[in-house]
Amino acid sequence: MPFNVVYVLLLVNVAIGVAPDGPWVDFNLSPESKTIYPSGLKGVYGAVSNAHNLIDGGDATFSAKDSYFTLDFGQEVGGLISLNVDTASPESRIALSFTESPLYISPTTSDDSAVQCANMSYDGVLALPIPLTTGYWTMSADRLRGGFRYLTIVSGADSPVTISNVSCSITFMPHWQDLRDYAGYFYALDPYSSDEDFLTKIWYSGAYTVQTVTIAVDTGRKDPPVPGWENNATAGIASPIIVDGAKRGRAVWSADLGLAVSTQFVSTNDLIPTRNAIATLFSEQNPETGQLPYSGPPLSEEGSDTYQAWTLIGTYNYHLYSGDTAWLQETWANYTKALQYLEDKVDSTGLLYVTATGDWGRLWQGGYNSEANAILYKASTRRPVFKASTIMNDTALAAAYAANASSLKTRFNEGFWSPTEGMYRDNLTSKLYPQDANSLAVLFNLTIFAEQASSVSAGLTRYWNEVGAVSPELPDNVAPFIGAMELQAHFASGNDARAMDLLRVQWGYMLYTPISVQSTLLEGYTSNGSLYYRSYDGYDYDASFISHSHGWSTGPTSALTFYVLGLTVTSPQGQTWSVAPHTSGLPAAQGGFETPLGWFGVMWTSTTGNFSISIATPEGTTGEVQLPFNGTVSVDGNVLAHNTWEIITLAGGNHTLVVQTSK
Ligand SMILES: *[C@@H]1O[C@H](CO)[C@@H](O)[C@H](O)[C@H]1NC(C)=O
Ligand SMILES: *[C@@H]1O[C@H](CO)[C@@H](O)[C@H](O)[C@H]1NC(C)=O
Ligand SMILES: *[C@@H]1O[C@H](CO)[C@@H](O)[C@H](O)[C@H]1NC(C)=O
Ligand SMILES: *[C@@H]1O[C@H](CO)[C@@H](O)[C@H](O)[C@H]1NC(C)=O
Ligand SMILES: *[C@@H]1O[C@H](CO)[C@@H](O)[C@H](O)[C@H]1NC(C)=O
Ligand SMILES: *[C@@H]1O[C@H](CO)[C@@H](O)[C@H](O)[C@H]1NC(C)=O
Ligand SMILES: *[C@@H]1O[C@H](CO)[C@@H](O)[C@H](O)[C@H]1NC(C)=O
Ligand SMILES: *[C@@H]1O[C@H](CO)[C@@H](O)[C@H](O)[C@H]1NC(C)=O
Ligand SMILES: *[C@@H]1O[C@H](CO)[C@@H](O)[C@H](O)[C@H]1NC(C)=O
Ligand SMILES: *[C@@H]1O[C@H](CO)[C@@H](O)[C@H](O)[C@H]1NC(C)=O
Ligand SMILES: *[C@@H]1O[C@H](CO)[C@@H](O)[C@H](O)[C@H]1NC(C)=O
Ligand SMILES: *[C@@H]1O[C@H](CO)[C@@H](O)[C@H](O)[C@H]1NC(C)=O
Repeated sequence: MPFNVVYVLLLVNVAIGVAPDGPWVDFNLSPESKTIYPSGLKGVYGAVSNAHNLIDGGDATFSAKDSYFTLDFGQEVGGLISLNVDTASPESRIALSFTESPLYISPTTSDDSAVQCANMSYDGVLALPIPLTTGYWTMSADRLRGGFRYLTIVSGADSPVTISNVSCSITFMPHWQDLRDYAGYFYALDPYSSDEDFLTKIWYSGAYTVQTVTIAVDTGRKDPPVPGWENNATAGIASPIIVDGAKRGRAVWSADLGLAVSTQFVSTNDLIPTRNAIATLFSEQNPETGQLPYSGPPLSEEGSDTYQAWTLIGTYNYHLYSGDTAWLQETWANYTKALQYLEDKVDSTGLLYVTATGDWGRLWQGGYNSEANAILYKASTRRPVFKASTIMNDTALAAAYAANASSLKTRFNEGFWSPTEGMYRDNLTSKLYPQDANSLAVLFNLTIFAEQASSVSAGLTRYWNEVGAVSPELPDNVAPFIGAMELQAHFASGNDARAMDLLRVQWGYMLYTPISVQSTLLEGYTSNGSLYYRSYDGYDYDASFISHSHGWSTGPTSALTFYVLGLTVTSPQGQTWSVAPHTSGLPAAQGGFETPLGWFGVMWTSTTGNFSISIATPEGTTGEVQLPFNGTVSVDGNVLAHNTWEIITLAGGNHTLVVQTSK
């Protein structure tokens, strides 16, 4: 393709963003300005006059101790609060408290970001310095509050004090001026949801969630925690960096990258924070063993074979989306060493024997665990390693990985498949059929025959209730990270209606429940929808410790793009691509994303008897189209001679395909 065309596209991009305008931009949750003001007043208690003025640019006055009011920013935000103290006496006192969930609005405590045990203190309040002076005041940077929706302001004295101009200066996405400048979009009306905009909303919810966890590297959470909270720890080797959650833990967690990088790619195409996160984990690799930490600094915890494999998958995905071969080259020796660390744990049985048992919170990790073996398969299988090795011109190693992966797949099925249950066991002797390994086995193509995938997809519904899929391997918990794997597994096995059911129930709960922030996505919750997670690891967790904006819960964003639109890249930057829509009963969908090669977009409509799709990809690329219906196919107006279920190869550019499906 002509190089100058790409160059022009990139320039345009920097200036205006590449995603087209349309009704979907109304669902973009990113604020227009980095300085935001509260949009609502949640409650007023005691002697406060005119608290509502703070929504309209006016002032409010406290005239008694312990009086307070709560401002509502309308959605999850994070950053530094500023306000003006207009009148005060030396005895006046005010303090701030923060919470994501309205359940923890309190004049004496914030929700918990630092200490997770219910028997210890909450984060407390942030008092303004005394004696209180009039004028403009801003929180000090180390007390940054990374995620909240509600801000409570309380008077600590009877002496009157008048304040105005309460605002929040957003600190996430520090490298972006216009937070709404997305590179991708998604839009589809959902006639089966009570809210027809649900699918579009959840796509933007995931995108915004990942923005809130993209932070300046020097704003990590201090560990071990101090009384109150401190968010000025160094979270990695370069800035900006992507972490797990907005409020907490504000540290790199490798499994979270397994999902969040795809969210980033389809929405903002802002991949450098992922590179910095992965590079941070590699920089702390144990030079002797090849083991990686499974969380970044200041935690830098070691001891998870599954997370070791997720880091490798995240690395592959980063390279697939970005085409950053120069970086892969720098990292290659560490990457292969990290994979060798896992391969060395594959013993004479042909299966990985897990000894580093850290994981996403589930119980019974260790030994010949099926989830861990599924993730190792993905990390060492053809797509990630073979392709990466080929790019690295390491074909002998590629062949060795491929051979090992193939034998692992055979052993996986011999060891874990239960023909009577039609699902995979948790380990060689277990009678538990876990959500994680079963979802991953389908998603990562560990199944050998198609009936297995269908059987697993059907079997997983036994764990569903009215708020989502309850993981049997973490009893009583709904784990959106693993739920995202299940969601994709239903699509991947062709069970689109089931995928959409899970999406509407589980992510619908997260998006609409009034006990969360109704904008970004919860880390986890219990089987009755209450705020609690990982209740079985020996800690009496405080429910307010739950994060309401967690990157690992954003699976639907990429699933809607990759499956419902059906648009994926199959080699770095989309030099080759694939379009295979899962129409899922919807009448229409459109969207796309951008890579350094240019714009990739899909728009389809589906009516009885007629499926029509427009595909826009950059000149010079090639792609494969798998149509979702059989019938008479025309490509750019020319009726195709061969059978429609065969894959259609297209050169980049704009194409329209129509299938007449009527019998
Ligand atoms: C973080 O802030 C605290 C309180 O101001 C300060 O004592 C500490 O040195 C800061 N840490 C770093 C790494 O800057
Ligand atoms: C009000 O707050 C904004 C945002 O923090 C700030 O830019 C502005 O200077 C403040 N106004 C006054 C009068 O201090
Ligand atoms: C590779 O690992 C070593 C430690 O084993 C570390 O010092 C180095 O920074 C890592 N290199 C990269 C590119 O991550
Ligand atoms: C692999 O080999 C090809 C062809 O010789 C070359 O263009 C490419 O730069 C090499 N890749 C790396 C990462 O060295
Ligand atoms: C393949 O598996 C064998 C046996 O487990 C192991 O010794 C070898 O290191 C593996 N090869 C690679 C490239 O991972
Ligand atoms: C296998 O999984 C079960 C839970 O289903 C667990 O109780 C048991 O300890 C595990 N066995 C081994 C050897 O890890
Ligand atoms: C899944 O694995 C089978 C071999 O068991 C292979 O033939 C097939 O191409 C794989 N599918 C994908 C999508 O990689
Ligand atoms: C919801 O589940 C939690 C955790 O299992 C439990 O503590 C709580 O009592 C339950 N709430 C209701 C209303 O059943
Ligand atoms: C709080 O509970 C944890 C376990 O949940 C325990 O380890 C710790 O000692 C307890 N702390 C206090 C002060 O009781
Ligand atoms: C099929 O759909 C396309 C796009 O909506 C439309 O242009 C065409 O007229 C339709 N054909 C029939 C037979 O309905
Ligand atoms: C199209 O027909 C082929 C061959 O009969 C069949 O395998 C395939 O499942 C059909 N596809 C759809 C979407 O109905
Ligand atoms: C291809 O389609 C895109 C939008 O889908 C449009 O912006 C672009 O102008 C089209 N290109 C050509 C050459 O028609």
